[in-house]
Amino acid sequence: MSEPKTIIDTPETVDNVEEIKTTTGQFNSLVHQIMDNNPYFAAGGGLMLLGSALALARSGFKGLSSLLYRQLIVDLEIPSKDKSYLWFLQWMGQHPNRSSRHLSVETNFIQHDNGSVSTKFQLVPGPGNHFIKYKGAYILIKRERSGKMIDMTNGAPFETVTLTTLYRDRRLFDELLKEAKDLAFKSNEGKTVIYTSWGPEWRPFGQPKAKRLLPSVILDKGVAEGIVYDVKDFMKNGEWYFERGIPYRRGYLLYGPPGSGKTSFIQALAGSLDYNICIMNLAEANLTDDRLNHLMNNIPERSILLLEDVDAAFNHREQTAENGFKSGVTFSGLLNALDGVTSSEETITFMTTNHVERLDPAIMRPGRIDYKVYIGNATSYQIGQMFLKFYPGENELCEKFVKKATDLDVPISTAQLQGLFVFNKNSPENSLNMVETLKSPNHVFQ
Ligand SMILES: Nc1ncnc2c1ncn2[C@@H]1O[C@H](COP(=O)(O)OP(=O)(O)OP(=O)(O)O)[C@@H](O)[C@H]1O
Ligand SMILES: [Mg+2]
Repeated sequence: MSEPKTIIDTPETVDNVEEIKTTTGQFNSLVHQIMDNNPYFAAGGGLMLLGSALALARSGFKGLSSLLYRQLIVDLEIPSKDKSYLWFLQWMGQHPNRSSRHLSVETNFIQHDNGSVSTKFQLVPGPGNHFIKYKGAYILIKRERSGKMIDMTNGAPFETVTLTTLYRDRRLFDELLKEAKDLAFKSNEGKTVIYTSWGPEWRPFGQPKAKRLLPSVILDKGVAEGIVYDVKDFMKNGEWYFERGIPYRRGYLLYGPPGSGKTSFIQALAGSLDYNICIMNLAEANLTDDRLNHLMNNIPERSILLLEDVDAAFNHREQTAENGFKSGVTFSGLLNALDGVTSSEETITFMTTNHVERLDPAIMRPGRIDYKVYIGNATSYQIGQMFLKFYPGENELCEKFVKKATDLDVPISTAQLQGLFVFNKNSPENSLNMVETLKSPNHVFQ
């Protein structure tokens, strides 16, 4: 038997090698004797060897597969906090090449252009694994709900969707997300999305509404035109603001009695500008300064911010209750939030109030409120226009109606007029006969 060449140089080494060989030989034969003579040992040893070999192979396989995974696979995680989360689920619900065994139902009410509402069930991927084929690539989608973690702000469990695909197809993630976003935006085309605050974030409130047309809100002569002109002028002048380092924002205050069309006008204006609307009610009980500030600085793109009942912040400057619990928005909180709004896009804030006298003059400072307009009870011009909107062409009756209504010599809100005309949809004569009901602002037509 030939020995390794490097060790036969010196005779002592040869002796050593011989010695070691003899010892090893003896040991081996001893082991063989024990193994061969003892059937339990023989079987146990075999199993042990097999077990270790398998364990070794398994850990090797694990190592190899995790190496391959790291090299070849790419993951994308979409947490439920992210805007794209809902877009993605919706997109996936409509994706044709998918295999899902776990579905969740999402029930939506769809408002048609004629105002009617129908129900639509959409099956979106539920928690579990799903496979889709997208542009030739296979993507594994895993929707997971964290049982332990709960979003403290809204009580919903945290969720994530993880998309896994081959590394070479990673650019598809970008395309897929863009497609999901476009799809979400397309379904809102011609509609106004109304966002309300949900914890610290803005969430669409119900389904997007068909746009309300501007001429459907009848304000006094020139009022609507004035606001529309100012907003459009502001929107054109971004460059001007940036060049001068002025925050690109403008605040509007519409004040006046209830039911005069303030909210309706702002919604119609948003629709005509193709903007969405974020509504925040400052009288909301659990709204704090911090939350208001956060929300006002994170409004969704292309949205008008609408702060309703802005006087609520001035009613109680000291909001700390006896037990130290602080709730409601304070005056300084509102001012800070208004001043702090900085966005690369324009920020249009509309505020409404029924009690302009309660507002502190500090809020009237330019930059907070730049345009202030009174939206009052119906003038004779508005009464006439409202009548003709419901009964087109009835000019003669309209004249009589306006006279009778103004002769009552009481404040009449446009909302009251709407109530009367809706009750008498097909009969302008009946409206004329019932004009007395306008004396009571809260008359219930039945
Ligand atoms: N000027 C108007 N033109 C057409 N519709 C109006 C007008 N004013 C009120 N309405 C109708 O009356 C209802 C209430 O109007 P809206 O909510 O806009 O009033 P508001 O001024 O915001 O009241 P509040 O001060 O109580 O919030 C709506 O259904 C709206 O269609
Ligand atoms: Mg309102």
